[in-house]
Amino acid sequence: MPVPLFDTASTLGPLRDEFLARIRDVVESSKFILGPEVAAFEREFAAYCGTRYAIGVANGTDALTIALRAMGVGRGDDVVVPSFSFYASAEAIPPTGARPVFCDIDPDTFCVTAETVRRALTPRTKAVMAVHLFGNVAPVGEIEALGVPVLEDAAQAAGSTSMQGRPGALGRAGTFSFFPSKNLPCFGDGGAVTTDDDELAERVRMLRFHGSRDKVSYEHVGYNSRLDELQAAILRVALPHLDAWSDGRREAAGHYERAGLGELVRLPRALPGTAPAWHLFVIRHEHPDVLTRALAEQEHGHRAYYRVPIHLQPAMAPYAESVELPGTEVAASTHLAIPMSPVLSAEQASAVTEAIRSVVQAESVA
Ligand SMILES: Cc1ncc(COP(=O)(O)O)c(C=O)c1O
Repeated sequence: MPVPLFDTASTLGPLRDEFLARIRDVVESSKFILGPEVAAFEREFAAYCGTRYAIGVANGTDALTIALRAMGVGRGDDVVVPSFSFYASAEAIPPTGARPVFCDIDPDTFCVTAETVRRALTPRTKAVMAVHLFGNVAPVGEIEALGVPVLEDAAQAAGSTSMQGRPGALGRAGTFSFFPSKNLPCFGDGGAVTTDDDELAERVRMLRFHGSRDKVSYEHVGYNSRLDELQAAILRVALPHLDAWSDGRREAAGHYERAGLGELVRLPRALPGTAPAWHLFVIRHEHPDVLTRALAEQEHGHRAYYRVPIHLQPAMAPYAESVELPGTEVAASTHLAIPMSPVLSAEQASAVTEAIRSVVQAESVA
C-alpha cells in the first residue's frame, strides 16, 4: 500500500462541515478584510504561541520581510541566514535593503547553531534569522547570547515546543506560514508575525497596511499584506487541533524509530528539551538516490527539498562569493524527506522502513 508524503485530506476531512459553516458565516457577514475573524485569530494564535501579539499577514515570506523591517533592518545592514532552508528565508532579506550573509547548519539537526552563526557575524549584522527547519527547534537563546537579535522563521514549526517556550516566542519576533501543507494550514496563502514587543507589533501592523495606522496618514512605504477573513476563519477551526496533530507527528516519528529506521539511515536529531512537531521527516544517507529508487518502486512518497542550497541559487550569486558551508553541503547532498503526517500509522512507517531496509542492507552487503 503506497504511503503518501503528506496526508492533509485525512487530517482536515473530519473538520469539513465546520470549515464550510465558518466560511458561510464570513460570506454572510460581508466582512472580508481585517474584520473580527482576523482579530480573534490574532488573539488566539498569540495565546497559543505564548506571545503578547500575533499579527496576520498575507504569507510567510511577507511576514519575514515585514518583521525584519519592523526590527529596524534596512539598507547597509547584514542579516545572517542559513543557506539550508526554503529559498524564501533569504529571499525576504534584500527587499529590506539589507544583505543576506549565509551561515552553516548542523546537518544532524538541519538548524543553525550559535557557532555557525558566530562565524558569519559581521560588524554590520543587525539580525539573525534562525529557521526552525522541518519543525526542529533551533537554539535561539544561545544565538541571542551572542548579542544579536533573532528573528525566528517558524514557517515549518507551528506545534513544536521547547522548555523555553514555543517557536515564535523564543526570539525578538517570529514568523509563520499557513500555506496549505504546513502544520497549521489555511486554504490559500496566509502568515503571521509574533512578538512581545509593543513597538515592533505596531510597526508590523502599519507595514502590512501600506505603512498607515489610520488610512489617512502614511508614515512608511509599506505593503498590502493582510491575512483575510476567510483564511482567519479557517485557521480558527484548525488551531484547536494543532496540538493533537503535533502529537500525531511525534508519534509517527516514534513509529519510524520503533521500526528500526535509525539502524539504516541517520534520523533527524532534536535538541535536548525540545519536542519538534515534525513538519517533514527528513533522513540522511550517503546515497539518497538509492533510497529514492526503492521508495519510488513501492510508490511511497519521498522528496529531496533543498538539493541546491540557497547560496548556490542564481539569484543569490551577489551574496555568495567565497561562501563555504560544509554542513550545508552534507545536508543538501544526503537528505531525503519520507512520509510524515499526524495520521501516519505504525504499519505505514514499517512499510517505508522495510522498503529502505531492502536497499540499504543490499548495498552494505555488496
Ligand atoms: C522555512 C520557510 N520560510 C518561509 C516560507 C515562506 O512561506 P510562504 O510560502 O507562506 O510565503 C516557507 C514556506 O514554504 C518556509 O518553509
